[in-house]
Amino acid sequence: MSDVNLTTKIKGLTFRNPITVGSGTFGTKQDFLDYVDYERLGAMTTKTITRHPRTGNPMPRICETSAGMLNAIGLQNRGLEEFLKNKIPLFAKIKTPLIVNIAGEAAGDFQHLAEALHKEKDVVKALELNLSCPNVEEGGAGFMRKRERILEAVKVVRDATDLPIFAKLSPELGDVVEIARDVIDVGADGLTLINTLKGMAVDTERRCSRIANITGGLSGPAIKPVAVRYVYEVKQALGVPVIASGGIMTAQDAIEFLIVGADLLAVGTANFINPRATMEILDGISQYCRDHDITHIDELRGSFHHENQISG
Ligand SMILES: Cc1cc2nc3c(=O)[nH]c(=O)nc-3n(C[C@H](O)[C@H](O)[C@H](O)COP(=O)(O)O)c2cc1C
Repeated sequence: MSDVNLTTKIKGLTFRNPITVGSGTFGTKQDFLDYVDYERLGAMTTKTITRHPRTGNPMPRICETSAGMLNAIGLQNRGLEEFLKNKIPLFAKIKTPLIVNIAGEAAGDFQHLAEALHKEKDVVKALELNLSCPNVEEGGAGFMRKRERILEAVKVVRDATDLPIFAKLSPELGDVVEIARDVIDVGADGLTLINTLKGMAVDTERRCSRIANITGGLSGPAIKPVAVRYVYEVKQALGVPVIASGGIMTAQDAIEFLIVGADLLAVGTANFINPRATMEILDGISQYCRDHDITHIDELRGSFHHENQISG
C-alpha cells in the first residue's frame, strides 16, 4: 500500500490510482497476468469492441519506427457477443473499474453496443468511444472525419446509457479543442486524448511500405508532445475529465500529463516493450510524490505554473 494517496475521482467513479492502459495495447490473457496485477491498475480499458467480429487488416500490420511504432491492426476483435459471453465474466472477477472501448460504422452500431453494455453496469463502469481509428475504411477517422457523424455517435450513446462517456479523439479529425467542445456539448463526459496519428515507413530495399496497409497509426514517444499539448489546451479550455494517451513510457512522462491536468493516464506502446510498464510507472509516480512532499495526487494534478515560465 502506497503512503501517497493516488485516488482519482471522475464523474462519481473512484479509481485507486490514475493508471489505465491504452485500448488495444494490453492483453487479457495469462501472458499479461503473469506480469501485471490487474487489481493494482486504476482502471482496465479494453481493446475496441465492434458490433460484429472483424478480422482486421492483412499482415504485416505493425512496425517499429525511430521514436515509436506504426500499427494498422484494423480493429480486429471477436465482436460484442463473444465479449459479453467470455470477457465480461472474466472482468467481473477483477476488482478494477472496466472501461469498454467501442467503435461502429454508423450511429446505429454505437447505439446497439451502448445499450448492450449498459445492461452490464455491474462490471462496465464507463465507455470510451473510438471516434478516431486511422486504420479502417469505415468507422475510423476517414468515416468519422465528418463532424456530424461523430456528434451523432456521441448523441445516441448518451441516449442509450448514463455510464460516463469518454470520446477518444485524434488530431487526424481536425482541431481537437474545437471537436472536444462539440462532443462535450452533445453529451460526452470527458475525452481521451490522443489516438494515433497517421504515418508511414518505407522499406528501402523493397521500396514499399513496411506495413501492408501502406499507412498506420503512429504511437509512442514521437507523439507525446502533441498529446501533452492537447491535454493542456483542452483542460485549459473546457476543464472536463481527460484520459491522457500518447507516449507515456515512464513515470516522468506520466507526471508531465498530470501537471497539465490529466485525470487518467493510458499506457499504450510501452506495454509492448515492457509488460510491467504500468506497474513501474505507478511506482515512479508515488516516488515523485514522496520526493516532492505530495501526499495526494490532486496536489500534483493540474499544477502547471504559468508564473514559473522561463521567458527571455
Ligand atoms: C497495436 C495497437 C493497437 C491499438 N488498438 C486500438 C484500439 O483497438 N482502439 C483504440 O481506441 N486505440 C487503439 N490504439 C491506440 C492506443 O490505445 C493509444 O491511444 C495510442 O497508441 C497512443 O498511446 P501510446 O503512444 O502510449 O501507444 C492502438 C495502438 C496500438 C499501438
